[in-house]
Amino acid sequence: MEALKRQAAACALERVAGGMTLGLGTGSTARHFVDLLGEKVRAGLKVVGVPTSEATRAQAEQCGIRLTTLDEVDRLDLTVDGADEVDPALDLIKGGGGALLREKIVAAASDRMIVIADETKWVDALGRFPLPVEVIPFGLGATRRALEKAFAVAGVSGQMALRKGKDGHVFVTDGGHWIVDCHLGRIADAPRLAGLLNAIPGVVESGLFIGLASTVVLAGASGIRIVERR
Ligand code: 5RP
Repeated sequence: MEALKRQAAACALERVAGGMTLGLGTGSTARHFVDLLGEKVRAGLKVVGVPTSEATRAQAEQCGIRLTTLDEVDRLDLTVDGADEVDPALDLIKGGGGALLREKIVAAASDRMIVIADETKWVDALGRFPLPVEVIPFGLGATRRALEKAFAVAGVSGQMALRKGKDGHVFVTDGGHWIVDCHLGRIADAPRLAGLLNAIPGVVESGLFIGLASTVVLAGASGIRIVERR
C-alpha cells in the first residue's frame, strides 16, 4: 500500500514546476509527496509551500522546503493532498488525520487541487468512511443535536463519536477544536449535507470537500488512473 501511495505522489510531482506556490497536504499519502518534493528541492527546484498541519510543517522544514503563509501570498498554484474517500463527482471525505480545517482553507485558496490516493479510496457514494466534523468544544451537546437534525433533513443517520487520540484523551485539532466522527453510511446528496452542516453555529467545518478537487490520481495494482474534473 505504501508503494501505491508513493506512486500516486510521484505522479502528482510531475505536475509541479519551478516557481510554483504549493499547498502541502497531510496524511500518509501526502507525506510521500512532501518527501519526494524535498528530494527535488534539494536538487535545485524552487517552490514555496503552505503546510496544512503542524505535522506537515515539521516534515517540510526537515526536507528543506521553503514555507510561507496565506497572509503572505494571495493564491496558491496547486495543492496536493490525500483523501479518505473520492466519489465520481470528485467530491471528497477528508479529515481522517484530523487536519480538515487547514486542508480546506488551503485547497480553497488554490487554483488547482490534485488528490493522491490508492484505489481503495474510490467509492460510488461518499459515507462509508465516518465523516469527520470539526466542532467547537463549547456547547457540544447542542451541536450534536443540531447535527442529528441536519442528518435527518439530508436523509442520513448513524452513530456519532467524539474522536479520541491514541492516549485515550479527546483529540484536539491544530486549531484547538474537537472532531465528531459521524458513521452515516451512504450519503446520497453530499453537497446538500455539506451546506446543512456549515449552517450549524458550533460546526467549524465538515470533512466534505465539495467542488475543490480538480484531478484525482489513483494508484492501483494495475497502474495509475487519473480522473480530471469535467
Ligand atoms: C488528513 C486527511 C488525509 O488526507 C486523509 O485522512 C488521507 O490520509 P492517508 O493518506 O493517510 O490515507 O484528510 O486530515
